[in-house]
Amino acid sequence: MQLSRQASTAPAARFRLRELSGGLGAEVLGLQVADVDDATFPALYAAFLKHQLLLFRDQDLPPAVQVAFARRFGEVQVHVMDQYRASQYPELYTLTNLDASGRPSGKHPDRGTLAWHTDGSWQRITGQATMLYAEQIPSSGGGTGWADMYSAYEALVPAEKAKLAKLRAVHNLNFSRNRRHGEDPMTEAQRTAVPPVDHPIVRTHPETGRKCLFLGDHAESIVGMDYAKGRAFIEALNERIVAMARIYNHRWRARDFMLWDNRCLLHKAESYDTAHEPRVIRRCTVLGEVPAP
Ligand SMILES: [Fe+2]
Repeated sequence: MQLSRQASTAPAARFRLRELSGGLGAEVLGLQVADVDDATFPALYAAFLKHQLLLFRDQDLPPAVQVAFARRFGEVQVHVMDQYRASQYPELYTLTNLDASGRPSGKHPDRGTLAWHTDGSWQRITGQATMLYAEQIPSSGGGTGWADMYSAYEALVPAEKAKLAKLRAVHNLNFSRNRRHGEDPMTEAQRTAVPPVDHPIVRTHPETGRKCLFLGDHAESIVGMDYAKGRAFIEALNERIVAMARIYNHRWRARDFMLWDNRCLLHKAESYDTAHEPRVIRRCTVLGEVPAP
């Protein structure tokens, strides 16, 4: 357990942690993300694994610093939906409802985010961490919720754990986008780049060794199950696992930075008045690994 030894002895525990409401996630106090260095990082990474979700308030975080911080976690995804890329930084994905003149356009940038999902589950190598930085936030709505998939797994009875451990779900970005909104359809090149992939529904977190559920809105069908039955199964299971999970709902402030572990959390965005209120969020997702049962 080299990581925890480093975490407890690092002279750079220059921050404090305060649990968020409901016990899921923690706020990091007394630290600017821009000041994280090699000495600080191990303790911060240990907190990320333990609390799954970290909030930093009042951050000065230029795009280049956000990308450099994300690289400490691993390889940063360059998203297949290239129309969202911030021009100078292909690793940044900008979620904005502003038009070219800077006014609210009335269009939500990605309505797929309004359903519970985990980032990048539609790839063989799925998302490890996602990091959001809030540039502009609406006066109401536009929050984000997270659901703890360790707690959902642990709430299952042993027979259901055993049943789910045998199942794999097919995740497909083209499916989830089309079914939720059908706007801005994927090009043929984008679809070819990310064909459907299957993952275990019960996965073992590669770093904590804990089991959790891995499903969400990109899951389309169940391997070896009739398509319609699989659809109904996934819909019902997604609803149940969120109902069983510990939840944290965040009310954003401008200059908030949020970092979370996609391997053991689902998340979803809350709607807002896209015609009258600005919401601009900068996102990076770090790639993790192929999920293992
Ligand atoms: Fe997401």
